[in-house]
Amino acid sequence: MITEAATLATPPEPFDPLFELQWGSSEMAGRILAEQLDPATESLSRPRKVASHVKWLSHHIPGRASVLDAGCGPGLYCNLLAAAGYQVTGVDINPAAIRYEKEQQAASLPSPSGTAPTAAPSSAQISYSVEDLFAMQRPEGEWFDAVLLLHSTIELFPVPLQKRLLAQLSQLVSPGGTVVVECRTRPDYPPGRVCWWEWEECSLLSSAPHLLLTEVWGRKGCEIVRQATPVPGGIELLQSTTRPVPLPALERWAAGVGLEPHAIFDGWSNRMASDDTARIVALFRKRDPHKTTGTARPAGD
Ligand SMILES: C[S@@+](CC[C@H](N)C(=O)[O-])C[C@H]1O[C@@H](n2cnc3c(N)ncnc32)[C@H](O)[C@@H]1O
Repeated sequence: MITEAATLATPPEPFDPLFELQWGSSEMAGRILAEQLDPATESLSRPRKVASHVKWLSHHIPGRASVLDAGCGPGLYCNLLAAAGYQVTGVDINPAAIRYEKEQQAASLPSPSGTAPTAAPSSAQISYSVEDLFAMQRPEGEWFDAVLLLHSTIELFPVPLQKRLLAQLSQLVSPGGTVVVECRTRPDYPPGRVCWWEWEECSLLSSAPHLLLTEVWGRKGCEIVRQATPVPGGIELLQSTTRPVPLPALERWAAGVGLEPHAIFDGWSNRMASDDTARIVALFRKRDPHKTTGTARPAGD
């Protein structure tokens, strides 16, 4: 939320709801979508890399599987996964993103005159819905073969919610199915503050030209990006906190909700992750109670 910040005695805490970017807010929805579709920025989406990631995923997820893209944004992965033969469900809390996807889909339907359909796959291959991942429910037995949580989406939440999200995704995937989590294992910046300013024609804060003061602050294992814009009579402040997940914690939480590590990769490569890996793509398999003999390790911090 953008809030008057000039009189603050201390900077906001990580994930402070007064200042934190609200992903589902209608006020921000359009600007978030614009940023996600902008090939010049990699912060919320990365149009240039999606095709190679989907190719990579197709080596690890059986063909024609049902796939949930959890926090799908503008559906860049959904489209290419569907084109590769998967049955895709895209879910996001941002209504503007889902509206955009549905419009793309409608535009691809055959015209009344029978002209050929185009790029975006049809509704037979993709369904989209505006949903909060934490509230998502499916009838018992209506599982997905694979669930994707990509591009650091897990990092958008504080630790208790990160654990809850893994538990939630585990409930949505079939026994023997795959959960893919892509995230950083540590912040990009060292503890402390890094600040810079720039003139922006448009940013998440405002679609009018403005001076943007950006501060990155590593605190409590989190990275907080703050944007401040001078406005008449004060400063508007918006922050976005991310909390990378150290691999041992991710594995422990996953084990506690029935997800066994299958392969942990060093980013989108074919190398296994090492202690030095800063970004992982982790593949977990949902334990199948009819096949496994071991017991889950307890989840801890
Ligand atoms: C970093 S973006 C990733 C978008 C997409 N997965 C990609 O890789 O291009 C995170 C996405 O998660 C969505 N999101 C955040 N909180 C959510 C929630 N509680 N439920 C559903 N989606 C959420 C945001 O709207 C945003 O589209």
